[in-house]
Parts: sequence; structure tokens; C-alpha cells
Amino acid sequence: MVDPRTSIIAERLKNVHDVIAVSGGKGGVGKSLIASTLALLLAENNRVGLFDLDFTSPSTNLILGIKDARPVEDKGIIPPKVHGLRYMSIVYYSGDYAAPLRGVDISNALIELLAITRWENLDYLILDMPPGISDATLDLIRLIKKIRFVIMTTPSQLAFETIRKLTDLLTAQNIQIIGIIENMKTDKDQTIKSQIRKLGLDYLGQIPYDPQIESALGNPSRLLNTEVAQKTKQIARKIQQFRQ
Ligand SMILES: Nc1ncnc2c1ncn2[C@@H]1O[C@H](COP(=O)(O)OP(=O)(O)OP(=O)(O)O)[C@@H](O)[C@H]1O
Ligand SMILES: [Mg+2]
Repeated sequence: MVDPRTSIIAERLKNVHDVIAVSGGKGGVGKSLIASTLALLLAENNRVGLFDLDFTSPSTNLILGIKDARPVEDKGIIPPKVHGLRYMSIVYYSGDYAAPLRGVDISNALIELLAITRWENLDYLILDMPPGISDATLDLIRLIKKIRFVIMTTPSQLAFETIRKLTDLLTAQNIQIIGIIENMKTDKDQTIKSQIRKLGLDYLGQIPYDPQIESALGNPSRLLNTEVAQKTKQIARKIQQFRQ
């Protein structure tokens, strides 16, 4: 039987122009930091939503310093507006507790959240994804037809090898990959850049390793003043040019 929530999800996302999943093959490559920064930057001149879909370790709430905002219940739930963007996360339902969900429960929680969340008209909905090819990745590809991916790697060959699996999967399913970001760069080595180009994918840019980031976590205006944000801004411009 087809889950009736799948058609509700399409309806819920009807007025969202562009859904961008910030994803990566590995944990700890900067998906949450860059998804949050990108959402803040795009929100300077667009209507933007940020949806934290990392059910085991949601962290955009910590990066953006979101504490008291709560969604409003009204024929579904309306994400609160925080720092100029509409914000939604499993954290609202798990609080500070771990959400020890198994595969099928994660799928269910994801589908439920997508089905009940009422986004207003949005230019961009940014999704902060869990690491790797997770159940959430497979569900989202199935449920959100207009989804596009930005994929993060670090300069390490270990991280790059894991994105190859993800890009193969997305390409096989005809899902658009906007491009790849190389994060935590400490030198000018071009190896990853040329490997990405060999795969026929767009290299969106590199973001330096910035020791100032730690002290900017939880404080969006400080975050926007870092070198990470400066570089992310150039990437945001490219993403807007590639707009669907
Ligand atoms: N360019 C950077 N410079 C300095 N620190 C960074 C940079 N990018 C990310 N970090 C730091 O690296 C850590 C991991 O980043 P983040 O949580 O965004 O990664 P992630 O890919 O979302 O991880 P997970 O897979 O666990 O969700 C964080 O402490 C973050 O502040
Ligand atoms: Mg993360």
C-alpha cells in the first residue's frame, strides 16, 4: 500500500522552489556548519528554510544558537523564524535527549516530519543531512522529486572516496548534483579539485580550515564574519546562478 503521507509531502513542498540537501560521504566534514552558514547567507536576500535531518546528532541548533524558538501547531506545524530563516529540527521533539532510532523508525520520523511541517513560500529549503548514504538519503530521493545535492568533502582522499559512492548513487537515479565543496583546506593542493572534475562534477569551491570557527559557534553574526562565511558566500552566489 502506498503511504498516504507521500502525497501530502508533495503538497507541503509545493511552494518551496528549490530543495538543496547538503550531504557528504563521511561524518565530520562540515555539512552542518556549511548548511547553517549557507542558509544564513541565502536568507539575506531570499526566503529560506533550514531543516536538520540528522536524527542521531542534530547540531544546526547549536551552530546557530537556537534555544527558545518552538514550532507553532496549526493544521500541522509551522517552523519558527529564527535569524531570518524558517527552522525545523528533530531537536524540537527529542529535546536534549539522544534519539536512538533504528532504520525503520528514522524513516517513519522523517516522513512524519515532512508530512506535518508547513513551510511558507520558500526560495530555498536547505537540508542538513546525516553522513553517508543513509536511510534519510534514500527516503528523500524517493519523496522529494525536486531535490538537488551539494556534497561536502575534505582534502583527504578518505573523504573523497566516500563521496564517489554517493555521487554514483545520485547520478544513477538522475538526481541533480549542484557540485562539490572542499572544506577544511590547509594548503593549495589541487588533487581533489582535479579528481572532482574528472568525475564530470562541478567544483563549487574550497573553504579553509579556520580555527576561529569554534568561538563563533552559537553566534550567527560572529559566524558571518569568519573566513568560512566569506568563502561560503562565493559558493552561495554560484548556487543561486545554478538556480532551477
Ligand atoms: N572550515 C572549517 N574550519 C574549522 N572548523 C571546521 C570547519 N568546517 C567544520 N569545522 C568544524 O568541524 C566539526 C565538524 O563539523 P560539522 O559538525 O559541520 O560536520 P558534519 O559533517 O555535519 O558532521 P556529522 O557527520 O557528524 O553531522 C565542527 O566542530 C565544526 O565546527
Ligand atoms: Mg552534521
